[in-house]
Amino acid sequence: MKTVKPAPWILSIPEYIAGRSKEDIARQYGVTNPIKLASNENPLGPSPRALQAIEDARHSSHLYPDPDARELKEAASRFFGCDPGNVIAANGSDEIIDLICRAYLTPGDEVIIPACTFSYYRIASLVCGAAVVRSPMKDHRIDVEGIRQCLSQRTKAIFLANPNNPTGTYLDKDAGLSLLEFVPADVLIVMDEAYAAFAREKDFMSSVDLALTMPNLVTVHTLSKSHGLAGLRVGFGIASGPIMDDLLRIKPPFNVNSLAQKAGVAALSDTPFLEETLTITWDGLDCLYAAFEGLGLAYIPSQTNFVLVRIGPRASVVYEELLKRGIITRFMTNIGLDEFIRVSVGLPEENRAFIRALAEVL
Ligand SMILES: Cc1ncc(COP(=O)(O)O)c(C=O)c1O
Repeated sequence: MKTVKPAPWILSIPEYIAGRSKEDIARQYGVTNPIKLASNENPLGPSPRALQAIEDARHSSHLYPDPDARELKEAASRFFGCDPGNVIAANGSDEIIDLICRAYLTPGDEVIIPACTFSYYRIASLVCGAAVVRSPMKDHRIDVEGIRQCLSQRTKAIFLANPNNPTGTYLDKDAGLSLLEFVPADVLIVMDEAYAAFAREKDFMSSVDLALTMPNLVTVHTLSKSHGLAGLRVGFGIASGPIMDDLLRIKPPFNVNSLAQKAGVAALSDTPFLEETLTITWDGLDCLYAAFEGLGLAYIPSQTNFVLVRIGPRASVVYEELLKRGIITRFMTNIGLDEFIRVSVGLPEENRAFIRALAEVL
């Protein structure tokens, strides 16, 4: 019998595993008001200016959004320090990753992705029939030499999250520059800076300036974390003209909805909200580090709004026990971190509730 068949490479694509939702955990464990520290969302909620912008814009919801997201791209260009012509806006940075894969990858190409990083790079690459080569990491950090060793004639792209999810580590300026030097000009480097706003180390370097001139570099950004708009889906790619042309050519016409465009513009101008976000994140990280040290747990110092803590062989049990107590974290066994859980920084009282529950479970 004839059946409809997907492209053969589609069948081996792993499912993207998202953080468990509050509703889901409340239903499964009968807990009220669970605390979600699983998806690196902004614990302060959305930017107040963005909320006002949504309120003002909702009456125009019957009209198509601006297909060019002109106002949003202008706001992003002011924020990131570039020209609006170097920015593409998308339905979350996931869509930027998708567009990059669809524009550049064909079956048979190889894509280098560090062994322990954001899983969507792999999924989006596999969708286009590319083969994923996992580069080794060193001490949970991206290893530039490991990437060099993985380069081949077939390498088409390299995906790097800087700072990295889920390890929270970063590529320092010297390592980043040395990578950009040895990667051949026909290999696209994708620098995902979803967490760059949270980086505190002095030698962390954003690649935005380099992306404006390097013809094989694109940076990826999101308003989901530092700007509190995960539910609205706003992301950006920044690159030089030729890459922009390629990505814009295949962008769906109305990919960023009208409320997201208005909210994005407002959030990008909400400096007090961003400052408060950074303060609460950095204070929260320091508080979590101190608590982990008190409990005798090793952790990986983070340049993001989450931290990986080593629980040991009982990590999956601890994760489950935390869920039963209404604390949602992330157990990352699918990328080889069987002994760790990842916890996003919450409000001070949420961090304290997590620590109390963790101490009890341990
Ligand atoms: C490194 C990294 N890149 C991209 C994303 C996707 O973000 P969004 O699609 O919400 O912009 C995430 C989400 O967790 C992430 O951790």
